[in-house]
Amino acid sequence: MARYIGKEMSRVDGAAKVTGKAKYAAEFQVPNLAYGFIVLGTVAKGTIKSIDTREAEGAAGVIRVFTHLNAPKLGPKSSTEQAPPRATEEEDKSFRALQSDKIFFNMQPVALVVAETYEQARYAARLVKVSYNSQQHMTDTEAVRSSARVPAKEPPRKTRGNPEEAMRSAAVKVEAEYRIPIEHHNPMEPHAAIAVWQGDNLTIFDKTQGVYSVREHLASSFGVPEENVNVVSPFVGGAFGSSLRPNYYPALTAMAARELKRPVKVVYTRTQMFTGHGYRPHTIQKIALGAERSGKLSAMIHEAVHNTSTLEEFSDDTTRFTRQVYACPNLYAPLKITNTDLPTPTWMRAPGAVSGMFALECAMDELAYALRIDPLELRLINYAETDPESGKPFSSKALRECYRLGAEKFGWKNRKFEPRSMRDGRLLVGWGMATGVWGAFQMPAAALVTLQADGTARVASATSDIGPGTYTVMTMIAAEYLGLKLEQVKFELGDTKLPRSPSQGGSWTTASVGSAVRGAALAIGTKLLALANQEPNSPLKGAAASDVEMLDGQLRLKSDPDRFVNISAVMKRNNLTAITEIFESRPSEEREKYATLAHGAQFIEVKVDPDVGTVHVTRAIEVSACGKIMNPKASHSQEIGGVVWGIGMALQEATEIDHRYGRIMNPNLQHYHVPVNADILEIETIFVEEDDKVVNPLGVKGMGELGMVGIPAAIANAVFHATGRRIRDLPITPEKLL
Ligand code: MOS
Repeated sequence: MARYIGKEMSRVDGAAKVTGKAKYAAEFQVPNLAYGFIVLGTVAKGTIKSIDTREAEGAAGVIRVFTHLNAPKLGPKSSTEQAPPRATEEEDKSFRALQSDKIFFNMQPVALVVAETYEQARYAARLVKVSYNSQQHMTDTEAVRSSARVPAKEPPRKTRGNPEEAMRSAAVKVEAEYRIPIEHHNPMEPHAAIAVWQGDNLTIFDKTQGVYSVREHLASSFGVPEENVNVVSPFVGGAFGSSLRPNYYPALTAMAARELKRPVKVVYTRTQMFTGHGYRPHTIQKIALGAERSGKLSAMIHEAVHNTSTLEEFSDDTTRFTRQVYACPNLYAPLKITNTDLPTPTWMRAPGAVSGMFALECAMDELAYALRIDPLELRLINYAETDPESGKPFSSKALRECYRLGAEKFGWKNRKFEPRSMRDGRLLVGWGMATGVWGAFQMPAAALVTLQADGTARVASATSDIGPGTYTVMTMIAAEYLGLKLEQVKFELGDTKLPRSPSQGGSWTTASVGSAVRGAALAIGTKLLALANQEPNSPLKGAAASDVEMLDGQLRLKSDPDRFVNISAVMKRNNLTAITEIFESRPSEEREKYATLAHGAQFIEVKVDPDVGTVHVTRAIEVSACGKIMNPKASHSQEIGGVVWGIGMALQEATEIDHRYGRIMNPNLQHYHVPVNADILEIETIFVEEDDKVVNPLGVKGMGELGMVGIPAAIANAVFHATGRRIRDLPITPEKLL
């Protein structure tokens, strides 16, 4: 029936992206532009004793050097940004640059040099001399884990049953600690902003996942009404969470532009990105699992600690999904945070979930070996038929089918249970699996549809497209419900002039914004029906809005397509050249009666070189159940991306800090390793579609982050199977296997 939804579509913005027509934040052309270059500090804690800018100010082309001594104070903030893993209304205490002499972290911005050219600003930045009163710093999460606390804003998390007692009396138990280092997002496009003031009105071109949250942040920073701030962000070259919270550079850029009464551009260097946009926190997790001999879980204790800054309490909600994945009557799963003299962490690629599930799914593998039960069988024994946390039914849950299909495709039944039992020549072969889980979130969102009498439509919502294919899927949804061809629909996003949308994050965009686009398109049909039925001889007399659909320029009865009106003729008779509808969609009350989750199963083959300890993921099968798949082409691409992220997290990624200096030692892509093509071998992604009428009108669940969630654990489990070595500290680098 559907003409576009569920069909493979190439990206509507693909040609613009590969031909350079797509403009990223730093690429907008603005007359009279000045260039800022950020100067980073060199100590982790203390105060700035002196800052000498005279030589820099005398350098060629330099317009001004901003420091805490001459930078204006930015106003108090309040942010209503809704960010994963749950919506909260909280004060925006995010770090703002040059507000005092205080140093909160190493590589903190201490000056901004603005010059006529980028090269002049960069050169002069090296002439700024700073001295510090250093204080004792602490950047090692491990060393301060004992002072961890429950975040103040954390919702109360109940203990289920009596986990301690159940643990004591369990027939079989495992207990271990798992560690995940700090990791950085490292999108291709560096963060950038161009700020242009006209009086008290600010236009800012910014790399962001949420134009409205940047607008709020800047409006309160500068004490101007939100309507005065226009944030423009049509294309984003990857973000992975690094543009969800207010970063310091937009306010810094706008501050300089306002002071100089001149447009200013600031682009982070790769190094500056490492303290400029947050990171996945350093996470230490202790898990204890108790089970009956049959494999049935009787106790789960999952305690997570991660770092935050001294500025803000960031919570990754690491143990959240542990409460919902397996049926278990006794559970304790707290999350605690501990202060470090580092920038504030943020959400990164399947935040919380991938960290928590790394620990839990490795622990499940350890339990499987303690019980001598096949790891997949153990998951099935503990399958949660209803949500163990709330007792509610799932709106849909095809995880069992994911396991079955993945195992069949992978050939899991041919797996030999014993570690080190499979070989390929001199290489050790390991097969591991894990479960993935993510929420099926939906946020309030608004969209606008303008249908022109000529049969074209403009559709708009201030969402973002950081890569998943939002331009394309929104165009498809609009074309579907307006009955138009794809090329007759133009979708716009990334501008605060457009109706309000949540930030693109949490894998909730299609559910949220897609539902709004659908609603606005249907509202156009309703309006047209009313207009048609004002006419005495309307062939649609008596029809309700739900009885009609738009297709190829007609509004027609679904049950009898021969009863129709011509849409442009109806508009013409009413002297209308266009009809505009704005629709705001919200999560339904029906959702409350259900638990809404997306699930997946991952099967991994690794080959390990026993002499040098290198691990290659030679085969990955990723099966996801996340409701309706709107655009299989883009969706497979999303899941492949998730697997690649998982490979990076499992085998390569780590931000190294020299704790003597509290300083990141690898803030570049030479030493911060991410997978390259040679690291990526066979990846197969499969969807088990769910017909879910509860989650939202489109039946879609979150999918982008889901694809990553089980991968690091599945790889670690495969490495154990290959080598007999249980590596609980990521990344699994060669020296850990020797
Ligand atoms: Mo994602 S970490 O919610 O951008």
